Amino acid sequence: MDDTQVETILIVDDEPDIREVLAISLQDMGYRTVEAENAAQAFTVFQKEDPQIVVTDIKMPGGDGIELLRKIKHENPETEVVMITGHGDMNLAIRSLKYEATDFITKPINVDALEIALRRAREKIAMRRKLQDYTRSLEQLVKEKTELQDHLASLGLMIGSISHGMKGLLTSLDGGLYLVSSGLEKKDMNRVEQGCRAAGETAGRIRKMVLDILYYAKERTLNRRDVAATAFAEDVARVIRPGLDGYGIRFDCRFDKNAGTFSVDADYLHAALVNILENAADACLKDRGRPTHRIIFSMTARGDEIVFTIDDDGIGMDRDTCDRIFALFYSTKERKGTGLGLFIANRIVGQHGGTIAVSSKPGEGSAFTVSIPKTPPENGETGH
Ligand SMILES: Nc1ncnc2c1ncn2[C@@H]1O[C@H](COP(=O)(O)OP(=O)(O)OP(=O)(O)O)[C@@H](O)[C@H]1O
Ligand SMILES: [Mg+2]
Repeated sequence: MDDTQVETILIVDDEPDIREVLAISLQDMGYRTVEAENAAQAFTVFQKEDPQIVVTDIKMPGGDGIELLRKIKHENPETEVVMITGHGDMNLAIRSLKYEATDFITKPINVDALEIALRRAREKIAMRRKLQDYTRSLEQLVKEKTELQDHLASLGLMIGSISHGMKGLLTSLDGGLYLVSSGLEKKDMNRVEQGCRAAGETAGRIRKMVLDILYYAKERTLNRRDVAATAFAEDVARVIRPGLDGYGIRFDCRFDKNAGTFSVDADYLHAALVNILENAADACLKDRGRPTHRIIFSMTARGDEIVFTIDDDGIGMDRDTCDRIFALFYSTKERKGTGLGLFIANRIVGQHGGTIAVSSKPGEGSAFTVSIPKTPPENGETGH
């Protein structure tokens, strides 16, 4: 037997002697055989045994072989059917070929002719399998190509949106530098100071944007360490506080002093929380509905998790925005946003096996809850 894995052959003939001779020959060739003595019985056996090849007499009492051939081909077109014909059955034999019989052999059965017919049947089966494999790999290729195209398209979109953002940032950097140089010329230190502040802020935005892009372009595996949760939260707060103070936003930090440690990539998680806090600050600055604003940043240990919440009383979001905030490049800030911030935050938190939940109301503010398991989840940390 070859690698086509033909195992079972169904023999159909009303004469027991012929069935027996055929069964012995086929078993000698290494096949398993099952038998039936008429077309009706043959179809029942066919459905039960699912043979790859059927060898059937063309003329039998109570239903002819051609009818059986048609039924079998209808039920499973991949079955190969070899017809056994008597003298004078040539027309029937030719008809059977029309109905896609693999071959026909004449009675009395010659073992060589039988072997040749079976070889053809096996070749057809092997060919069909190859074709199926080929089609499958072709489908895979098409899928990969489509994914690559999507990736290229999003890369193109990203480069476009980054260039656009960069252009705006460079203009505001130029503005700051102009203030510095003209201030120096006029010996106006206020102006110099103002220019320095503007340039410094813009440099900060450029830095954040570049870091975001780097993260997006080159995802690395997490570098986990045991980190004290309170110290970590204080670190994040320290980065954010100066920006908020400058704009008169009250920053209320509530950290659980006994939260213990958690195993995280501190740099990455830091970046994720900063992105969420910066959005909270933006939301407060945009909101004209309140004279002053506050952001509450809290951290507590809850069961096996460290939970951070960032609660602002800024502009808030409607349902539609809420549903889209984690999408790549989704931003409502035009020149001032790339739409990478939450996409990346979500990916980082996902890599840690954690979740981000959001609740928000337009005009009232938003609350982001970030839950991080203290220890890495069992099934690795590729999920994102
Ligand atoms: N606290 C919030 N309050 C109101 N809207 C928010 C808040 N956080 C996020 N959003 C909305 O989600 C959008 C996506 O946020 P994301 O941080 O991904 O991008 P971005 O802030 O616009 O740009 P950047 O890439 O610079 O962060 C924002 O443009 C904003 O519309
Ligand atoms: Mg943002």
